[in-house]
Amino acid sequence: SIVDPLLRTGYHFQPQMNWINGNAVNLFIRHLGRAPMYYKGWYHLFYQYNPKGAVWGNIVWAHSVSRDLINWMALEPALEPSIASDKYGCWSGSATILPDGTPAIMYTGVNRPDVQYQVQNVAYPRNASDPLLREWTKPAHNPIIVPEGGVNGTQFRDPTTAWRDERDGRWRLLVGSREEGARAGGVGATAPRGVAYVYRSRDFRRWARARRPLHSARTGMWECPDFYPVTADGRRAGLDTTVASSGTRRVKYVLKNSLDLRRYDYYTVGTYDRRKERYVPDDPAGDERHLRYDYGNFYASKTFYDPAKQRRILWGWANESDTAADDVAKGWAGIQAIPRTVWLDPTGKQLMQWPIEEVEALRGKSVTLKNRVVKPGQHVEVTGLQTAQADVEVSFEVSSLAAAERLDPALAHDAQRLCAAKGADVAGGVGPFGLWVLASANREERTAVFFRVFRPARGNNKPVVLMCTDPRNLNEDEVRCQMVVSHELLVCTALTRVPSFVSRIDRSSLNPNLYQPTFAGLVDTDISNGKISLRSLIDRSVVESFGAGGRTCILSRVYPSLAIDKNARLFVFNNGKADVKVSRLTAWEMRKPLMNGA
Ligand code: FRU
Repeated sequence: SIVDPLLRTGYHFQPQMNWINGNAVNLFIRHLGRAPMYYKGWYHLFYQYNPKGAVWGNIVWAHSVSRDLINWMALEPALEPSIASDKYGCWSGSATILPDGTPAIMYTGVNRPDVQYQVQNVAYPRNASDPLLREWTKPAHNPIIVPEGGVNGTQFRDPTTAWRDERDGRWRLLVGSREEGARAGGVGATAPRGVAYVYRSRDFRRWARARRPLHSARTGMWECPDFYPVTADGRRAGLDTTVASSGTRRVKYVLKNSLDLRRYDYYTVGTYDRRKERYVPDDPAGDERHLRYDYGNFYASKTFYDPAKQRRILWGWANESDTAADDVAKGWAGIQAIPRTVWLDPTGKQLMQWPIEEVEALRGKSVTLKNRVVKPGQHVEVTGLQTAQADVEVSFEVSSLAAAERLDPALAHDAQRLCAAKGADVAGGVGPFGLWVLASANREERTAVFFRVFRPARGNNKPVVLMCTDPRNLNEDEVRCQMVVSHELLVCTALTRVPSFVSRIDRSSLNPNLYQPTFAGLVDTDISNGKISLRSLIDRSVVESFGAGGRTCILSRVYPSLAIDKNARLFVFNNGKADVKVSRLTAWEMRKPLMNGA
């Protein structure tokens, strides 16, 4: 394999080997049986897994448990094909804690070999007093939901956690689908409708579809829907899906869907009308605007409510960006992002996300810089620690916003194109400034995580802040420059023409067979005081970044060929016209937790 084994992640969740895909399902068992007190808390992570290889297929529910969401122990798979209604695959689903404390798993089974015909099944623990929930049984009344009445049976999957409305005592859950009859394929105007069907039940056994879906939009298939309440007063406290249906005014709802055509997770914030059994996004254009949990490699995510710390936690899956052949050669593919606490911003317009506090327990040796001014064209290396596996928090302060560039109105709403056009090496006014991570000593490999500030768009007074992860890097001038003075820490004077071969090394890796797009999102923050923060969790082949306290997040996979292990460096750079002060930067080495025996 051309991917070095040292690029395997250190503290991101990963099975020992083989393929993992999204829709990790989580549940936290507070107590089982009749114990009236908290005595044994375990987090359970179930995920889509191929026990036979590093590509998708033979899907089972693999199972790992943890007491802290950081150290993981692998158990035997919880669900494997074994009944007629899941014979060809145990696909995604969710767990629900029933009122007596027993968990139930609802999941999609594939029951035909020719077409991937999908039905919904339920499973219960064989022994509810086992806190590790090692064995699951599938009752004979499976499947519990089948596609009927015009539902497209090959696009009908991923049941959500169920919730119960106390007013009628009935359970509800959603199943993701694509509306029958619509044209297949394509995005935009011709895309078929993504649909979240509502199913209701009194006994958790017989389920009937509500006449109208909870919501739908012209986006293509909705995989892995997620629907949950959030407090609307800006507090970080989470709400339990199953108990918070008695909608008070201070509760909003979030509907998330995974778009299979585009491979990203988008969400809207809105209200849930329980009488009409409908969800209405606050922003009427929300289904077009596509606010995303993460503007990078992050898909098929799920949240769950953690009663131990009264928070809602988001888990997302990140696949590889190398080739399938590389995955087979290295024997593994896919990781989970670091679990994130999610809560609603006080404006109510978007979610905020922050790595769960437990991850900080892995922090080791650290280095801090304070009040360090980085002049235009300069960069500063953060030395004194290893940064292949690190956590970095930075507070930046821009001296003045006067030099901010004008925003091309054609690109104003397209962060991705904006960043592709104005990458880390296109000198700007205010920014680009940020971090170069997983950089080689001479910086011919590096990944930039940065901000760029534009003047307010017409009719607005807030400067526009762009956040990007750019693995392409190195403008030609600088490459030439580096070849001249290779170990210089500060950027040298730009030279003019460079031989064309140089552009071939414009990337985060010299390995040519990688998918290395720029990822970008706008940051809805007020930067008029010049201040903005950035946190990056760097983990060998992952860079997971949180802008402005978690307003915009970008996870990117990177496979350096030089910046590996002890050879990975960290820099702060400024490629704008305004000085940027690092008010404070702390970088920590991150220890490796117990990770499924790997
Ligand atoms: C998401 C998904 C789900 C499906 C599962 C199959 O990536 O496609 O829709 O249930 O993976 O592994």
